[in-house]
Amino acid sequence: MVANQNYSRLEKMDFNKVLRKNILDMEPYTAARDLVPKGDYIFLDANENPYGTWNRYPDPMQRDPKAMLAAIKGVTPDNMVMGNGSDEIIDLLYRISCNPKQDNVISISPSYGMYFTLANLNDVEFREVMLDDDFEFKPEDILARVDDNTKMILLCSPNNPTGKSFDPQKILTIVKQFPGIVVVDEAYNDFSPTESLIKYLPQYDNLVISQTFSKAWGLASIRAGVGYMSKELAAIVNKVKMPYNMDGFTQKTIVERLADLDSFNKTVKLLVSERDRIMAELSKLSYIEKVFPSDSNFFMIRTPRHAELMQYMIKNGVILRSRHSMAKCQNCIRITVGTPEQNDLLIKLMKEF
Ligand SMILES: Cc1ncc(COP(=O)(O)O)c(C=O)c1O
Repeated sequence: MVANQNYSRLEKMDFNKVLRKNILDMEPYTAARDLVPKGDYIFLDANENPYGTWNRYPDPMQRDPKAMLAAIKGVTPDNMVMGNGSDEIIDLLYRISCNPKQDNVISISPSYGMYFTLANLNDVEFREVMLDDDFEFKPEDILARVDDNTKMILLCSPNNPTGKSFDPQKILTIVKQFPGIVVVDEAYNDFSPTESLIKYLPQYDNLVISQTFSKAWGLASIRAGVGYMSKELAAIVNKVKMPYNMDGFTQKTIVERLADLDSFNKTVKLLVSERDRIMAELSKLSYIEKVFPSDSNFFMIRTPRHAELMQYMIKNGVILRSRHSMAKCQNCIRITVGTPEQNDLLIKLMKEF
């Protein structure tokens, strides 16, 4: 299964080569309610307590939030897997595709640390392709690392911690030439002028788009993420996930939140304009060498005084994220955009430093 210039996505992804045999062969867990259409029944099938408000198991297929998301995203509910944060979706993709101690995945560096953590958790080799000084990659450098045991390529766009979106055409070059799964983590796409790659799902059956309710939707606490992918692949991931991986309160909260697109759009707009305001102010400070451009609700700065600055901010009650130890991020600190008042304080403290 090597990357191939002549590989055509008109061919179907070969599940027998990309997915684990035990996963393809396994029978899913089924609940009695999965076997009947949605309706008003007396539920005496799941050993629940008949009294209370949250006494019933949640819908394992999350039909209500999926129906709303399908309309917003222009896909069908069959294209979706919902999980306990998008981290769960990525973990499930590792588990359906990678045989421990045998297979590998490829990602870029620096990027979101959870991809590496999940590779370790699943005992899977993690191959990193270093970004250049502009935090960019060449598709051919990633494809050059592919071998017969490469099951998945993980790309984060906009990338964390750099804040930068990648050119969709560069990502699609990889999607077209790699016969395995390509995950594009779009956790921060709502803040970016770059369009989501979700519209390419009908063309590429190996493409998975991962999105989350933790960032622009402001729901990090309820733990909700969504993977968008081909119906065939979604059916396999849904077969493998824990039946009740998304609780009823979370499903209800998502439905309520999705009904209020106006406030979502307003918040995103505010956070983006606040980001630009903070970045402009910090660019004037002589001890800051560089304020990196960003398409996200965070951005990085580089300063030789990064350690001292981190301590100073903590002393003043503000926690920033040092990224100094990451590849290509020497002396860098990542800053998340807060409320206008929090951002005013941030700017004031950083001017005084
Ligand atoms: C790139 C990226 N993907 C995913 C996540 C986590 O998303 P979730 O809260 O949905 O698990 C984060 C969180 O920081 C992130 O930076």
